[in-house]
Amino acid sequence: MSEELFKNIISHAKEYGFIFQSSEIYDGLSAVYDYGQNGAELKNNIRNYWWKAMVQMHDNIAGIDAAIFMHPTTWKASGHVDAFNDPLIDNKDSKKRYRADVLIEEHVAKIEAKIDKEVEKAKKRFENFDENMFRTTNARVLEYQKKIDDINVRFKAAMEQNDLAQVKQLIIDCEIVCPVSGTRNWTDVRQFNLMFSTSMGSVSEEASVIYLRPETAQGIFVNFLNVQKTGRMKIPFGIAQTGKAFRNEIVARQFIFRMREFEQMEMQYFVKPGTEMEWYGRWKETRMKWHRAMGFPESKYRFHDHLKLAHYANAACDIEFEFPFGFKELEGIHSRTDFDLKSHETYSGKKLQYFDPEENKSYVPYVVETSIGLDRMFLAVLSASYKEETLEDGSGRVVLSIPPLLAPVKAAVLPLVNKDGLPEKAMEIFDTLKYEQRCFYEEKDTIGKRYRRQDAIGTPYCITIDSETIKDNTVTIRERDTMKQERIPVEKIPAVVNDKVSPNTILKKL
Ligand code: GAP
Repeated sequence: MSEELFKNIISHAKEYGFIFQSSEIYDGLSAVYDYGQNGAELKNNIRNYWWKAMVQMHDNIAGIDAAIFMHPTTWKASGHVDAFNDPLIDNKDSKKRYRADVLIEEHVAKIEAKIDKEVEKAKKRFENFDENMFRTTNARVLEYQKKIDDINVRFKAAMEQNDLAQVKQLIIDCEIVCPVSGTRNWTDVRQFNLMFSTSMGSVSEEASVIYLRPETAQGIFVNFLNVQKTGRMKIPFGIAQTGKAFRNEIVARQFIFRMREFEQMEMQYFVKPGTEMEWYGRWKETRMKWHRAMGFPESKYRFHDHLKLAHYANAACDIEFEFPFGFKELEGIHSRTDFDLKSHETYSGKKLQYFDPEENKSYVPYVVETSIGLDRMFLAVLSASYKEETLEDGSGRVVLSIPPLLAPVKAAVLPLVNKDGLPEKAMEIFDTLKYEQRCFYEEKDTIGKRYRRQDAIGTPYCITIDSETIKDNTVTIRERDTMKQERIPVEKIPAVVNDKVSPNTILKKL
């Protein structure tokens, strides 16, 4: 997908009330966004789809809603105070600040693009082209690949040893220039903690520094025993929650892909030590199924296994999605061992253990985590649904082919004209549908224009009320993707709409 198309998606999101820049009248706040009337509905529907699939459909997963503010020691125990850092570097000429790891990653991506170009050229030149063979024997490709491997090895070593001088040396050796000034006049690299802090308490001497949570997971860990005991949960069991998280991202770009205030949907699955790899494999599969059940092309998803593991993990992968700017992380699945619970035991002095009646002993469970960004999921749905189509008559339309269950509006109720009792009849139909579905009523503009506006926000059905309706109590129902129109009796409308947008349409595939 091109940059142009991504720009079109962003302006479409604004024009049709999905996403606005935060505090736009004051020129906005960087990497913070507001959801408009259609965006809020779509976001709610995605959150509900996740909640139903994770909590409602599993008798051993409990949903909670922990507070954003947590005791400051939480973040010491989780490792975020000491290790939730990004390596930053400034260009002295442009005064622009960058993430050193991103500069290096982008440099590697440029070399990878050169390899792809060689492959494409060769593909055109040779018949029966064997890409694998070409990649492993072509001298120029091998030279590029060696460069990439050398950079990756040096970067990995430098980060593991927290050797920031080496990271800077790598940037210099790769001859990376500032995209703004074009110079290599770099400062030293230094670590920058991503947590936002504020103070709690009204009297300054008594106020203590607290953090806005950078992940929702810790609210689950500190409530592990509360939920286990009050819900009489038996291992294996999960605790799920959705909610806001905050990170002072330095490189905040690509619209809602990387935000400073965002929402996560996380689930921690507590298992018997030694069974975590089995559960890790099962959750990888289950989560991929959840994504695929929405019906977007399977080629849009792939796994990416982490080579460099976080200090708490013994296995980790991402589910990547093909965004308009390429394959990027959408969801993380992590086998987090017993790191978090053990660390909270140490810092709180409280036991966070489970008595296993089968084993007749207590232990600290291991944890498999699934963690997905709701906003990132929103962007995935929006970009996979966005279509610019040319119709048979030569006219164009933009349609969002959002899975009906997730669509912000399920049905638009449209009187053909604003007279002859049609608005009253239309309102009657709206009033019967509104108890079950979010519907929309509109009488302004030609019917064609109204259809286009509903296509643009992804409404699965438009219901048109005309003079025939008054005579025989039938309406025209138009389907969004095929644009096919059918005449059906008014009393059949709820069944047709409910059937199309029912959670069963997706949940039964899981
Ligand atoms: N509890 C584990 C955890 O937070 P993570 O990989 O840092 O892991 C999980 O984040 C997911 O949260 C990501 O896969 C992404 O979808 C989302 N996410 C992380 N940072 C984000 C940001 N700045 N803006 C939007 N979404 C973000």
